[in-house]
Amino acid sequence: MTTAAPRSTAATTPPAGAVGTAHTRVEGVEKVTGAARYAGEIPFAGLAHGWLAVSTVARGRIRSIDADAVLAMPGVLAVLHHGNAPRLETDYVGMLGVRPDPTCAVFQHDQVPSMGWPVALVVAETSEQAREAAESLVVDYEQLPHDIDFHSGRPDAEGLDGHMPAVTGKGDLEAELAASATVLDAEYTTPEEHHSMMEPHAATARWDGGRLEVFDSNQGATWVVGELARMFSLEPSAVRVRSEHVGGGFGSKGVRAHQVAAVMAATVLRRPVRVVMTRRQMFSLAGYRSPTAQRVRLGADADGRLRALEHRSLSLTSTVHDFVEPGAGHARVMYDADAHHTANQVVRLDMPTPTWMRAPGEAPGSFAMESALDELAVKCGLDPIELRLRNEPERGPVSGLPFSSRNLAACFREGARRFGWAGRDPRPGVRRDGRWLLGTGTAAASFGAGAGPSTAVLTAEADGTFTVRIAAADIGTGARTALTLVAADALGVTTDRVRVRIGDSDFGPAMIAGGSMGTRSWAWAVNTAAAELRERLALGADIPPEGITVRSDTTAAIGALAQKERHSYGAQFAEVAVDVTTGEVRVRRMLGIFAAGRIVNPLTARNQLVGGMVWGISMALHEEAVRDRATGGHYGADLAGYHVATNADVRNVEADWIEDHDPDDPVGIKGIGEIGIVGAAAAVANAVWHATGARHRDLPIRPDRVL
Ligand code: MOS
Repeated sequence: MTTAAPRSTAATTPPAGAVGTAHTRVEGVEKVTGAARYAGEIPFAGLAHGWLAVSTVARGRIRSIDADAVLAMPGVLAVLHHGNAPRLETDYVGMLGVRPDPTCAVFQHDQVPSMGWPVALVVAETSEQAREAAESLVVDYEQLPHDIDFHSGRPDAEGLDGHMPAVTGKGDLEAELAASATVLDAEYTTPEEHHSMMEPHAATARWDGGRLEVFDSNQGATWVVGELARMFSLEPSAVRVRSEHVGGGFGSKGVRAHQVAAVMAATVLRRPVRVVMTRRQMFSLAGYRSPTAQRVRLGADADGRLRALEHRSLSLTSTVHDFVEPGAGHARVMYDADAHHTANQVVRLDMPTPTWMRAPGEAPGSFAMESALDELAVKCGLDPIELRLRNEPERGPVSGLPFSSRNLAACFREGARRFGWAGRDPRPGVRRDGRWLLGTGTAAASFGAGAGPSTAVLTAEADGTFTVRIAAADIGTGARTALTLVAADALGVTTDRVRVRIGDSDFGPAMIAGGSMGTRSWAWAVNTAAAELRERLALGADIPPEGITVRSDTTAAIGALAQKERHSYGAQFAEVAVDVTTGEVRVRRMLGIFAAGRIVNPLTARNQLVGGMVWGISMALHEEAVRDRATGGHYGADLAGYHVATNADVRNVEADWIEDHDPDDPVGIKGIGEIGIVGAAAAVANAVWHATGARHRDLPIRPDRVL
């Protein structure tokens, strides 16, 4: 056997930078040929299949579960429920600073706090046997009255801090409103919305030589390890979570009932157990976006400067867990006023617990605030872009902090130029194309640009290639490809010499794919490791057969970041056509211009921003989970009943960006995960007003609401 001659990278010529050049997905061929294995399809010898049984009442108590009847069915191995399931530890605060949602800590008591609550796991030799048995399982409930009635003005609404303070306030709101030349007071609502990612939640758990191993579909292996270790009272080092390929997440893929149930069953049966959620189960077990009811009051002086701003947002949470959808957060960063008051409130209902979904807070919050600004602009007789430019703050309106960078005005200027905004006739309802009324609208976008500590392991291999190992999650974003480009640049080599391995908690702790912070956080760690490795190689080190490995940890560097208001910004534009005979709204074209830090891979970045804007179309026109108040359950809990935008809804959607390198990030990245949806629904709604003269303050803008 011969070994490749040791070689030093210092001798190679650095290529023109990989970061900023379009690169197809490094795992693209694997994905389109089916070679990429997802959590629900990895083969295991002796695999057993679990099927969740969920409650058919919205509130109550389990009187009895007739497990014996289904244990006699073909292939059935076990029925886990509150009467026999292992006890879990649930009194802790996890990696993301929150307590576990009891919905995920399954089978610990006989209470049923919402429709679709997990009550049992039936395990069988095949998934068909498990399903047959789970659907035959007779559960007797003592049913109690339930309340799922979400609306504004609930007397039991309360402030809840969540990840940001519930309330902020300065100045005398009523006095400034009274002194304003123009006042707007309007209420906006958004419905219950669901993530609806392609790949359902799935996990396979097995014990392997004293270690628990879980093959899972999630947004962060480190996060899932932390939660499972605590719940099952294990050392984190005794748990390994792997999730190389993930078919979408949108905020929903953290720790959920299926992983916990799979671990329980694998522990009890001492064999690998797989649990996959059905699409229908995802409507109650996977989290969702709470509906919101928002009130916005704005007061402006004669030249459009805001004197008063109030944004109050009500959302719901379950009776078992605290979660807040912080709709009122948008104005805290975007607009200042002499009197500036914002509040997020929740009401506790007999509903499943909502969770983060696609720009949590910002997506519904920007619908209300960016619609309200459009309404105010009309009242003031100002162009809506001009109104926003007149209200550009010098510092964070609530934080008082300087902006790390804020290129919102530049986004509007560039967007207006490319969209053809100049000379727009502000009058509504005056443009016609046959039976269609035409209109254009705009809105601002913003999303936080944070970073979380991560570790990366980087090896210079003896054959001249490099291996990056990081517990990153590529949930469809292109993160793995972006990290390949970042590593290549930092090492000064071509991308074909870099191999990036992700989705394995054994690679060390890393940030989740969430909060638009994934790629930025991981890139920081990869860049740091690469810099150290390059230094070592520059000293002329020969590479031994096992390679040279360095490990980075960005905890200290991120902790040392100066306090600034760190956000990405954008300007959204939409042109709609409204059919006056059917009430149908068509988005003819959309343009988003973003200032979102350095763009690592234009190909996948454009993909992601356009994807977010498509979600905005979807939010504006289609998405709405409808519940039956009598039973607490959904009508049409599937992708036929829950409408998302499809190809026919997406005509001409363009996303682009302006130069906006983050000065404090070693690669210049900010994050693009969520900003694409922010403001997009408002831009569409504002365009519908411009087309028709009718203001739509309730989403979605269904045909029956248009007529
Ligand atoms: Mo995102 S909603 O933080 O996954």
